[in-house]
This record gives sequence, structure tokens and C-alpha cells, in this order.
Amino acid sequence: MFEEAQYFAPVETRDDGTVEVQLATTHPGFADPVYRARRNAIAGLAVGYVPGTPIPTAEYTEQEHKVWALVSRELAVKHRVYATAEYLDATERLELPRDRIPQLQEVGELLQPLTGFRYIPAAGLVPLREFYGVLADGFFHSTQYIRHHSTPLYTPEPDVIHEVIGHANALASDRYARLYRLAGSAARRVESDRALEFVSKVFWFTLEFGVMTDRDELRAYGAGILSSYGEIEEFRRMDIRPLDIAAMGTTQYDITKYQDVLFRAESLEHLEDMVGDFWATCDDDSIARLTADAR
Ligand SMILES: [Fe+2]
Repeated sequence: MFEEAQYFAPVETRDDGTVEVQLATTHPGFADPVYRARRNAIAGLAVGYVPGTPIPTAEYTEQEHKVWALVSRELAVKHRVYATAEYLDATERLELPRDRIPQLQEVGELLQPLTGFRYIPAAGLVPLREFYGVLADGFFHSTQYIRHHSTPLYTPEPDVIHEVIGHANALASDRYARLYRLAGSAARRVESDRALEFVSKVFWFTLEFGVMTDRDELRAYGAGILSSYGEIEEFRRMDIRPLDIAAMGTTQYDITKYQDVLFRAESLEHLEDMVGDFWATCDDDSIARLTADAR
């Protein structure tokens, strides 16, 4: 079974109301008590969040802002070479701060006039049906913590750099935002867990790890690639396959490694026609047929 849970550190709320993030022993911040306390405090903000109210402010430290500034600067250089024109245009429209971590409330305020999307804080893993479903309403669940300062160009889990530099820039594009909403509508429509898994894998291989032919080169539009300093240098060397719904919905992947199988759209129109139409129309029966055909 597809399990995105392994991607996120488990979050536990104790009887006294305090929140503890259980980092793996291999996590770069595992042995740093200051970082552990920061993670617990930031997760506590999301646990205490009341929908419909402003997102609680995370008081980031200077060191945390510096990590953002460094990664933001390095990724911007890579994006000029490796990101699609649609993503670059959206990035210019959104104008995220480069020198400090923006608050999630602020990210929503920048996005909303452009495409209607807003952010919701998440302490860790959000159940798949909830995570994808609210995309249909223009809400994006996002973690608020940042990676450990000892490894600024690497994170084992999706942090605020992934969620905002990867996803918010894409969500500032009308055309990508429409695809996110369609993925949400598909997740709401399907009933079985298997069909939901299929829908979420198509999301994984497109809006997270999608690549396409753009200005005669292979470029990335997936948030997972565009927020990863290491992966962005590697994706052109991966096993690149043609866009195929049945294959994307049934291909296994390992989230702990670089994605070695990627699917290429020939253009944004091609992505919209094939994947947009799939999400707009799929149901449990059509997905069962695609799954059977892929065997
Ligand atoms: Fe993501």
C-alpha cells in the first residue's frame, strides 16, 4: 500500500497537551536539542490551529532565516536552467521573499489574488483524502518547520522550503493551480482506497515529480524536483518515460531516494489534456480498468 506516512516524522500529542515530533535517529537534527524543541513548538502551532482563523506565526530564528536565504538563492540559479517557463513566470508573479522565511499566512495572501489558493498549517502527515480533497477548494496543507541548518541543501522530509518554493510558486500559475484543483476533485470523487492511491500516484509523478519538454529541453514542473538542490541536477539522467496514466498510477516508487523513473509530458497542453482530463473524469470503475490494463 502506498504510504506517504514514512515521509513525515510522526507527531504525538501528550496527555498534558504538549506536542512531540519523533525524528528518526538518522535525521540531521536528531541529536540537536535546540532543533528538537523548535520542531515541537512549530508542530504545536499546527495542532492548535483553528480552521478559518489566521495561521499562527512561527517565530523563526536568524539561523532558520539564513537557511531559507541560502537555499532560495541556490535554487533560483538552478530554476533558470531547469524549471519550465510556466513555473518561472509564476515565480515572478508571486515574488516570495528571498531573505527570510515567509509566514504561511503571508504565502496565502500572496497567492489568493493570483489563483485563489491559501495555505493550511500541518504538523506532519495529513490523511491522503483530506490532503488531496481540500485542493478542490483551493487549500494546500503545508508544514511550517525548516530543515536542520547542518544540511541546508538536504531534507529527509517535506519542509517549508519544499512546500513554499516548490508548491506555492507552482500554485501561482493559473494552469498548474487548475490541475491541483482537479486532483482534489478526483480524490473527493473516488471511493475506494485503491482508487485514491491511484489518483495520488498520478499526482506524485506529475505535480510532485513531473518533467516536460519545454523550450526544446527537458525541464521540471514538479515541486519535489524544483525544491531539491540535489535532485534538480539529476533528473535529466533518470529513466524518462512517456506520460501514461495507467503507468503513473501503478508504478511503485521509493520516497527515500531520488526518483529514478520520471514521466515526461510533451507540453503543458499535453499534461492538461491527459492528466487534467483524467482527474476531471476518473472514478472507481475507470481506475479499476486502467489498473487491470497495466498488469
Ligand atoms: Fe509536496
